[in-house]
Formats: sequence, structure tokens, C-alpha cells
Amino acid sequence: MHEHILVAGGAGYIGSHTVQLLLDQGYQVTVLDNLSTGHARSVGQAELIQCDLCDKRALLSLLDGKTFTGIIHFAGKSQVGESIAEPLTYFDNNVTGSLNLINYAVQAGIDRFVFSSSAAVYGHPSSSVIDEHHAIKPINPYGMSKAMVETMLVEGARSQGLSSIALRYFNAAGAWPDQGLGEDHDPETHLIPNVLTSLLPLHGKIHKPGPVKIFGHDYATDDGTCIRDYIHVRDLAEAHVLALHHLKGLTGALMLNLGSGSGNSVLEIIQTCQQVTGREIPYLVAPRRTGDPAVLVADNSLAGELLGWQPQRNLMMIIEDAWRWHQKR
Ligand SMILES: NC(=O)c1ccc[n+]([C@@H]2O[C@H](COP(=O)([O-])OP(=O)(O)OC[C@H]3O[C@@H](n4cnc5c(N)ncnc54)[C@H](O)[C@@H]3O)[C@@H](O)[C@H]2O)c1
Repeated sequence: MHEHILVAGGAGYIGSHTVQLLLDQGYQVTVLDNLSTGHARSVGQAELIQCDLCDKRALLSLLDGKTFTGIIHFAGKSQVGESIAEPLTYFDNNVTGSLNLINYAVQAGIDRFVFSSSAAVYGHPSSSVIDEHHAIKPINPYGMSKAMVETMLVEGARSQGLSSIALRYFNAAGAWPDQGLGEDHDPETHLIPNVLTSLLPLHGKIHKPGPVKIFGHDYATDDGTCIRDYIHVRDLAEAHVLALHHLKGLTGALMLNLGSGSGNSVLEIIQTCQQVTGREIPYLVAPRRTGDPAVLVADNSLAGELLGWQPQRNLMMIIEDAWRWHQKR
């Protein structure tokens, strides 16, 4: 069957890597994006429709006459701190935008829907390794917006026969330097790009002058810094293509963790960045941020079992790819 996939948010970081992989595998791809944090240059040979998901009328009119066999939905705002400062903006963008897209899918009879959810739906974890049975208790509006969309997908499945997979990413990282793709946010809130760009000349607001900040070094971990699960963005992209396949035989709404299954502390990240770049990376210790759990690591076995997905790239490859990309951009 000829596959034509609509990728909302496909001009962003994880979306653009997935778009490139879909194109490589022979899919026809249309990207829909408002370019608020994404970049037109990142969609490669895919068709790009510039549109805000919250503008329902524009959405329906721009997609009128097109036929899709599946939707992947990355479009959203994703900064936790910003979501606490501007919760209603987050609910509007992430929840209203998603509702419009889900309604479009139902009306257009597209029954395969893949959604970018987040480990943020779990809130404070009750164990260091989290599986999908962990309670959903988000502690900030960003995580709440993701949990609300998951609920809409469950209800859409029950009432309208929409089949969906919500992929709960842990910490996406890495790049695809040969395709000119990498993490290109401004401002950037993620650790690995911030550590690497601290070594580079000033580049917009992205470069944070001065030493890298470590938020808290008195956590109950071996070196006192927080442990997170870093997953290569290309491994994430592969999971999306597998999810589209899996949806062919699926009815209902499924939620799957996507992480590497192992954790690295902030200090380990800095040390690995030093190893990869051969440069000393100055850092300082700042107070803890509210809401940061000590350890957040995915149990990724369900995605392995159901999708046949196994992450292929380790932390060293994540940082090597990110460093190559940051130096070239
Ligand atoms: N990066 C991570 O580590 C991570 C972790 C968990 C979940 N996620 C989720 O994955 C998704 C993609 O993350 P990313 O890091 O690639 O973010 P990103 O900001 O790079 O990409 C999001 C894309 O969506 C577009 N967009 C946002 N709101 C839109 C709207 N209303 N209408 C149309 N387009 C809109 C942006 O322009 C951008 O191209 C997000 O939903 C995010 O919440 C990311």
C-alpha cells in the first residue's frame, strides 16, 4: 500500500529525524508545522504546510483533498519551566492543538495515530526505574497537557475506533550530522547541547556564557547529581516507524516508554563530553530545581516486546553525533 504520513511538528528536533527516516524508507511525508520552534530547512524533501494546529479552520482547509494513511503528532511546546509560568498557553497549544488534530483524524477516517508523550506524565516516580503501570501524576502543566492528550486518545479509541500509540520519551539527545539534523532550540534547556555549546563561540541565545550549571549535588545518587535516561534521537525515530507498523493490527490506545533503560548522572554526562571533545568543561554547582527527581530511568521492555524496538546507540554515540553536529551548524 502507498503510505502517506502526516507529521505534525515535523520541522522540530525529533520530528525532523523521523521525517528523514520515513523519506529514506520510501514513505510520502507531509509536514504540518507553525515553525514556532522548528525550522523549514529541517524537513528535507517532505512537503511543508505552515499552519498552527490551534487554527482549526486553517487546518481543515489546508488538509482538504489530501489522503493520509497515518499521523505522527510531535507538535507541542515542551519547556517545563515555561509551562509553570504560562500554564494556559500550554493547555491551549498542546491540548487544543492535539484535539483539533485528533478530530481531523477521526473525521478523515485515519485510524493510525502516533503521539509524542513524555516521562513527565509520571511526575515524582515511586521507583527509580519506571514501567507503564506507574501512576500518572504529572507535577507541572507540561506533563498535565501530555496526560490530557493520552486521555483523549483512550476515549477516541473507545468511542470512535481511533488506534493510537502514545510514546513516552525520556531524554531525547544526539543528532544526525550527515543529514544536517540536530537539536536546534533557542533557548535550549537540555543538558547535552548546553554542555557542548558552552565550548563553542556565541550563537544566538543558545550559548550560555560561563560554566555549565549543575542543579544540585546532594541527591541520593553515587556522585550526588541527578540521573536521567538519555535516548538517541535516531533510536526514537526508528520507534515511530515501528509504531506505525504495529498500529496496522491494533485497536485501542497503547502507551509505551521510550528510553535506553539505563541512567547517567549529570557528572557522567560532563565527563563523557570531555572525553569526546578532548576539552576541559568548567561547571559550577547551583541549587536544586524544584520538581527534579533524583533518578528517572525507563523500563523499556514493553516497547521491545510489542514493537521489536531496541535502542542501537549508546551515550558515547549520542554525544559524538551531537558534537559533530554542533561544530558544523
Ligand atoms: N526533546 C525531548 O527530550 C522530549 C522528551 C519528551 C517528550 N517530548 C515531546 O516530543 C515532541 C517533540 O519534541 P522536540 O524536542 O522535537 O520539540 P521541538 O520544539 O523541536 O518540536 C516541536 C515542533 O512542533 C511545532 N509546533 C509547536 N506547536 C505547534 C502548533 N500549535 N501547531 C503547529 N506546530 C507546532 C514547532 O514549531 C516544532 O517544529 C514534543 O511534543 C515534546 O513535548 C520531547
